[in-house]
Amino acid sequence: MNPELLKRGGEILSAAARKVSFSGAGLSAESGVATFRDAKSGGLWTKDDPMRLASPEGFADDPNLVMDWYAARRRSVAEAEPNPAHRALASQTGMIHVTQNVEDLLHRAGACGEQVIQLHGSIARDHCHARCGFEEAIDLANPPTLRDCPNCGQPLRPGVVWFGESLPPEAWQRAEDACAECDALLVIGTSAEVYPAAGLIGLAKSGGARIIIVNTEPSGASHLADVELIGKAGEIVPELFL
Ligand code: OAD
Repeated sequence: MNPELLKRGGEILSAAARKVSFSGAGLSAESGVATFRDAKSGGLWTKDDPMRLASPEGFADDPNLVMDWYAARRRSVAEAEPNPAHRALASQTGMIHVTQNVEDLLHRAGACGEQVIQLHGSIARDHCHARCGFEEAIDLANPPTLRDCPNCGQPLRPGVVWFGESLPPEAWQRAEDACAECDALLVIGTSAEVYPAAGLIGLAKSGGARIIIVNTEPSGASHLADVELIGKAGEIVPELFL
């Protein structure tokens, strides 16, 4: 790690009145939660077809397959612990954390609910696939199999955003506002390939924010970086807040 770049990143963050983080699966990789597109570390979408496992069409086609796949992911999240990057972020009072991650590791590291905006929903909840309004918290360690909605009899499914679905409007609005108004955006562990979420980085940049990127390799947002730090989130992020 280039110490000069690390120092510059830290200075940008400490000078910023409004700080926002924007994270992806790489933030939780060192906690043992799989990423999606990393060929090197066996990213989920390098082995499994996202359209079968994470789309409304895939669920309609084989709901048991989808629920069983999510049950395995849920168990792996239940076993995971927050890493030093989660803890460093959670300790920053007033910082907003916009995340594409559906797990709760930032919350478990101590971030308060208001501070965390989950753009792609939560793996810790199920909701009615027919959107009758029913939803419930599930036990990640003992995840449910396929079952019917007690309100309307349609199947229940994980409360995450799938390919082809819209992001939760309130979360999206809050994320847009936070990114448009921030002075520094710390982008951590995302390939920045999935839109509209990845568009928040350009939004922050065009609003005048300085962009710091932490990733084990260059990403789709590298061209927007004021400071790009190549390395592991769990090692670099805590250093940025010293
Ligand atoms: P990706 O798997 O696309 O990207 C993960 C990024 O993290 C890659 O750029 C890696 O280089 C980087 N990375 C891996 N380990 C790291 C580490 N220890 N420290 C820092 N960086 C590391 O995951 P996302 O960008 O989160 O959507 O993917 C975006 C969305 O695509 C996900 O939210 C999910 C997926 O389909 C939905 O589920 C709707």
